[in-house]
Amino acid sequence: MCGIVGYVGNKRAQDVVIEGLRRLEYRGYDSAGIALVHEGTIEWRKRAGKLANLEKALAEAPLPGASTGIGHTRWATHGAPTDLNAHPHLGNSGRVALVHNGIIENFASLRAEVEAAGDDLLSETDTEIAAHLLESALERCGNLTEAMQQVCQVLEGAFTIVAIDAQDPSRVVAARRNSPLVVGLGEGENFIGSDVAAFIEHTREALELGQDQIVTITRDDVSVIGFDGAPAEGKPYHVDWDLSAAEKDGYDWFMRKEIFEQPRAIGDALLGRHDANGRLQLDEVRISDDDLRQVDKIIIIACGTAFYAGLVAKYAIEHWTRIPCEVELAHEFRYRDPILTRSTLVVAISQSGETADTLMAIRHARQQRSKVLAICNTNGSTIPRESDAVIYTHAGPEIGVASTKGFITQVIAAYLLGLYLAQVKGTSYGEEVAGVVAELRDMPDHVQRILDDADELYALAAELKDTKSVLFLGRHVGFPIALEGALKLKELAYIHAEGFAAGELKHGPIALIEPGMPVFCVLPPRGRDQLHDKMISAIQEIRARGARTIVLAEDDDLEAAAYADTLIKLPRVSTLLQAVPAVVPLQLFACELATLLGHDVDQPRNLAKSVTVE
Ligand code: G6P
Repeated sequence: MCGIVGYVGNKRAQDVVIEGLRRLEYRGYDSAGIALVHEGTIEWRKRAGKLANLEKALAEAPLPGASTGIGHTRWATHGAPTDLNAHPHLGNSGRVALVHNGIIENFASLRAEVEAAGDDLLSETDTEIAAHLLESALERCGNLTEAMQQVCQVLEGAFTIVAIDAQDPSRVVAARRNSPLVVGLGEGENFIGSDVAAFIEHTREALELGQDQIVTITRDDVSVIGFDGAPAEGKPYHVDWDLSAAEKDGYDWFMRKEIFEQPRAIGDALLGRHDANGRLQLDEVRISDDDLRQVDKIIIIACGTAFYAGLVAKYAIEHWTRIPCEVELAHEFRYRDPILTRSTLVVAISQSGETADTLMAIRHARQQRSKVLAICNTNGSTIPRESDAVIYTHAGPEIGVASTKGFITQVIAAYLLGLYLAQVKGTSYGEEVAGVVAELRDMPDHVQRILDDADELYALAAELKDTKSVLFLGRHVGFPIALEGALKLKELAYIHAEGFAAGELKHGPIALIEPGMPVFCVLPPRGRDQLHDKMISAIQEIRARGARTIVLAEDDDLEAAAYADTLIKLPRVSTLLQAVPAVVPLQLFACELATLLGHDVDQPRNLAKSVTVE
């Protein structure tokens, strides 16, 4: 949801800014732009479309060398993705250039004020208003930091703003409210970024900013104040991944690389989670065991793929803890007056930790005095910071817009949470918890074996390249996996796809079945509550109507072969854990099909990785 970069130092700012934008492009790619301070003027270029368009413009008309600059890659909110609406935006006389992520909610009244003052506005954006306001304030007070402070007091909504002043090449000033912003600490240079990927090749030392803070960076200094002008401090931290983790490593897509990293990611998500006696420990859960024993309801909130991880979690948490567990889309939860009490535990799942819908929902829950526990992949991001406790998923940076290792590690973390609550509440005997943990430890090998057979799925994708519609069926944890399989195909291949609970098929969706229609069926392991047999019945029903069945089943499930046009073998795991291996073939299939169709797998149309507006 918009990537932002700022730089002051001893290097060519254009190089640093463009490289930073390249690493942030997953956040939005509707347009890109750059502005530099050069000999008392702002020099800028901006272009609609991907960063490559901006790079082409820069190659045709190079910018002068300068060592102070800002850049932006956009996911459009106010105004279409055109050259004019691209950031940076300039003030009325071109003294200030500014980039922005978020939405300024009082934009209409501010626009009227700016126009009444006689300013000419060139774009349809809320951002340009902020640039005009900032420049007017700067003309009055002469200091960009102070001007930023004045402007932030009149802006409402969510915003990260980064600005430069043509007359002061020594500084870049940034402000944040409800939107991400981190500072990179270098030697003789400092950086601003929407996340650390913006500057990871230059420094791994970062500074986390709080809400409603303004930071001023110069070559040798970083200073922080609140919107009220009071001195403040950021929180320094070391980034524990490096540039190579953010590179493609020989894969054609980040997404494919991230799918193949899942064995390692699962292993990391499980690291250090038990003590010498085999008891689970979740160090980051800063809610006391006494408080956890009081929990009488769990509500999981999330969006997109993370929501499906939440649906899987419900099956496991309720089974192990006997605590009622609801799962809800964060944006629906927030605005429907949900019933929350002190003994409700709200679990927010978010890969990025910045999803505005999820953030607003946890704020609402905390106002109602419920405890919030975040399951998150991004250290120092807003959602864990604003939660009472966090379980980090340790998947490493996820760049592909469609979540893969992010999802699988969310599911692992949710299992760990369920087992931990069961241990604390005493609802599952110690051996049962230890048994599941042992099974989880085998997951990296299981997933690796599926990845080793990727070619079979790639061949299937090639066969189904021209298909117009695909269905996904599952029961129990296979149901959210069916939903996730369908989402992956929609978002990457732009193919109509739907996931259904297999039992629901006969109540309506079966009417969709046409001869030859591909239907993925996640067959549960044998032995639990007849789930397996019920699913076989559903498969028979669709085969009778001519569907082409692609059945995901345990590798020694001999019965499954009789009902499968294509059989995809899964490892033998317990029913609740089957979500982990079962999602992998669906990820591989969607990634490959989208590749064959010539789509941009890492940056699907209209999407952004981290949606920081509601
Ligand atoms: C966006 C992404 C999805 C992601 C969702 C939630 O819509 O395109 O892939 O699942 O946000 O993101 P989060 O960072 O909160 O997990």
